[in-house]
Amino acid sequence: MRVLVTGGVGFVGTNLIKRLLKDGHEVVSIDNYSTGFKENEQEGCEYHNFNLQHIYDFDSYMENPDVVFHLAALARIQPSIKNPTIAIQNNFDSTLNVLEWARKNNTPVVFAGSSSFHHGLWGSPYAWSKHAGEQLCRLYSNVYDLSTIICRFYNVYGPHQLEEGTYATVLGIFEKQYREGKPLTVTGDGQQRRDFTHIEDIVDGLIKCMEAMHGAVDMRYAGEIFELGRGVNFSIKEIAEMFGTEIEYIPKRPGEYDVTLCDYSKANETLDYNPVKNIDEYIKEVIG
Ligand SMILES: NC(=O)c1ccc[n+]([C@@H]2O[C@H](COP(=O)([O-])OP(=O)(O)OC[C@H]3O[C@@H](n4cnc5c(N)ncnc54)[C@H](O)[C@@H]3O)[C@@H](O)[C@H]2O)c1
Repeated sequence: MRVLVTGGVGFVGTNLIKRLLKDGHEVVSIDNYSTGFKENEQEGCEYHNFNLQHIYDFDSYMENPDVVFHLAALARIQPSIKNPTIAIQNNFDSTLNVLEWARKNNTPVVFAGSSSFHHGLWGSPYAWSKHAGEQLCRLYSNVYDLSTIICRFYNVYGPHQLEEGTYATVLGIFEKQYREGKPLTVTGDGQQRRDFTHIEDIVDGLIKCMEAMHGAVDMRYAGEIFELGRGVNFSIKEIAEMFGTEIEYIPKRPGEYDVTLCDYSKANETLDYNPVKNIDEYIKEVIG
């Protein structure tokens, strides 16, 4: 298939593109390299450096793709609290431009939603912007009969995750601190629980969405929501303890919530999504 990926040099995008290329698909990425890296580029994929906020016509990048994976976003809670206008405008405008072009070409769109939906839309500008993206998908499906799927990811970890800076993930930070022999920094009392999902399971879910949309004959996916997580959660303190090293407690940050836990039964029944990777085994491999 011909596949357009936005955010193709980010964490999720890089892993998705690797799998798409391995499966023999033709892939084009559009990314502005704001939080993604040139080192993530994969041989066989065509890369374009553009800001989706300023692109209204994608034809010159890939004409009539079979599907668009719209992953590009400023993707973390804390930076969005510091710079709300940047996060909201970036995520909203990008999604609107992708959907508007997809509408003209009748191209199915898979949108990266977030489990932050379950913890209050007004908890952070990031959570709000992700929910606004979901609403835009549903609007375009409802009014223009555009096929859209929303995948809500739960704390993704694995190769190519960000390890430093304000966009780093918890596991990325812990792995770097562990390698450098520093104490692992746990926010608050560390009792907040998260459903950590390995990137391979997320990519598997995304591929299943693409296949389902492509095979759909008499069924359109109209803003259909699938929760993609592991279905098990651990406290941050438990995760830190799995590394078997020193822990340092630092103040809780705004916008953090207490528990995430994915119910992926709908994705399982509809897409045959079956996550298999366990975080305790992953950490054992990391620490060797
Ligand atoms: N990683 C997670 O745990 C997680 C959880 C829930 C949802 N998500 C969602 O999944 C998607 C991918 O997340 P990620 O972890 O790979 O983040 P990431 O920051 O690694 O990747 C996002 C990519 O989008 C690009 N980008 C941002 N704004 C852009 C713009 N205006 N134009 C072009 N490119 C732009 C960045 O340069 C980056 O390469 C995001 O939409 C995020 O909200 C991620």
